[in-house]
Amino acid sequence: MSNYQGETLGVPVSLEEIKKSYGVVSRFYVAVEAIFEKGVRRKGLQLLSVIPGEVVLEVGVGTGYALREIASSVGENGKACGIDITPQMLEITRKRLKKAGLMERVELYEGDARSMPYEDSKFDAVYTASTLELFDTPDIPTVLNEVKRVLKPTGRLGVASLTKKGKEGSLFIRFYEWLHQKIPKYANCRPIYVEKSVEDAGYQIIKSEEFTLLKIVPWRIIVARPLTN
Ligand SMILES: C[S@@+](CC[C@H](N)C(=O)[O-])C[C@H]1O[C@@H](n2cnc3c(N)ncnc32)[C@H](O)[C@@H]1O
Repeated sequence: MSNYQGETLGVPVSLEEIKKSYGVVSRFYVAVEAIFEKGVRRKGLQLLSVIPGEVVLEVGVGTGYALREIASSVGENGKACGIDITPQMLEITRKRLKKAGLMERVELYEGDARSMPYEDSKFDAVYTASTLELFDTPDIPTVLNEVKRVLKPTGRLGVASLTKKGKEGSLFIRFYEWLHQKIPKYANCRPIYVEKSVEDAGYQIIKSEEFTLLKIVPWRIIVARPLTN
């Protein structure tokens, strides 16, 4: 049915296909967010603890709920930037931030997180939720390195992701991986080894919490700092 070992499955889907599927998903993602992402978002942002005046990036903004909270936390003197590959997601985010009266402190960019348009050491913090686990295995270090480039040396990275560690044989992981292998265009993400991925990319984890949704869906939420050479 699936692999029970400590392997991360690949993602055999092109960026164009991912973009296309999230264009469709964007129409009902508000419901997905309400069921699956809300609790994780609260915990993730609480652990990251954005403060007024900070310049913060969110990678994979989706429909903009987290970015709205980040924009509110950075205050008038801070900045909240968001990057996403899917124009429909960015449009929904733009409307949400405009409605909240926060667009003046927000910058949105349509693009690929593997190669971002931001200058080196721009951000105090980078946040990414439910996004790292949809990059193909070789792309995960690429994204984390790109994040490290745009983070200040003293900056922090917050990640919330489906986790596989210690859950390899669980029914949920087996089912999810099976689904991912059957219909990768739609079930394009899969559980990953979050802490190992982040540490291997040259970060030190400073906070780490597990979050289990509906008693079966395992998430890992971490905050990490780039290691200096
Ligand atoms: C599962 S959604 C998560 C959205 C949001 N972070 C949340 O927690 O609700 C993943 C998002 O990542 C975006 N995405 C996928 N591949 C990307 C890439 N290569 N670069 C930037 N964004 C990407 C998708 O368009 C989508 O909006």
